[in-house]
Amino acid sequence: MNIMDSLATSTLDDWSRCWENDNDYNSWFHATATILTNQDSLLKSHRDWVEARDYGFGDRAFHHIWKLLVDQMPSNFSFLEIGVFRGQVLSLIALLAMHTNRKAQIYGLTPLTNYRDRCCTYPVSEYEKDIETIHSQFNLLPNYNLIVGASQERRMIDEASRRKYTIVYIDGGHDYETVVSDIVSYGALVEHRGYLVMDDSSNHLNIGNCWPGLEPVSRAVRNILEPDSTFKHLFACGHLRVFRRK
Ligand SMILES: C[S@@+](CC[C@H](N)C(=O)[O-])C[C@H]1O[C@@H](n2cnc3c(N)ncnc32)[C@H](O)[C@@H]1O
Repeated sequence: MNIMDSLATSTLDDWSRCWENDNDYNSWFHATATILTNQDSLLKSHRDWVEARDYGFGDRAFHHIWKLLVDQMPSNFSFLEIGVFRGQVLSLIALLAMHTNRKAQIYGLTPLTNYRDRCCTYPVSEYEKDIETIHSQFNLLPNYNLIVGASQERRMIDEASRRKYTIVYIDGGHDYETVVSDIVSYGALVEHRGYLVMDDSSNHLNIGNCWPGLEPVSRAVRNILEPDSTFKHLFACGHLRVFRRK
């Protein structure tokens, strides 16, 4: 077995055990996750399609991280994304669940508009149609549930709080106060031993040659999530960080 084949069999727990907050390690880990995405035809075809049509953000490496997470899931799990754009991550979770014979209840909280924050703007688009398009492109039933609005609104928090989730992924507004609200409101919905995935949040880590994310997001994670003793930080891959509920 060559080295890449052996790395391809490493699990999320393996990567968590060996993660280091070190510039060289993180440059290597991100580059390796990119190669592992490209070696997997399912991940590669999905990310190629997304990149060719500006259907999503983040790094190619993150597709491998989502695969590691889904591979860790029980046969039935639930997923909540805060800040759905055009459906890249909702469809990827559905695709990975389908290919591993898992049932996934998939929820996405989204304004369905080009709602912006102080850091980022987005194009005008028919977002609901875009989310349908990426699902049909990959032969996925539109089995996702959309919660439509801005994440800091009480109504959205109440709607999402009707259930707990095995994975919560926060990638909505990037203003400090929005991220704090998201961590407090939606982090609380992560099941025991479930995962909280934070985008754009590695500015205070030794993240090597990767793009570190956005300072207000990283500050919120440092001030609110890192001191929360009910979560354990597992690793960062570039600006994506994975925490587990203890
Ligand atoms: C960076 S994009 C998400 C990208 C997505 N995770 C992906 O990989 O394709 C952030 C999205 O969150 C939306 N957004 C911004 N502020 C928000 C808020 N307060 N509540 C919910 N969504 C928000 C934006 O309109 C945008 O669609």
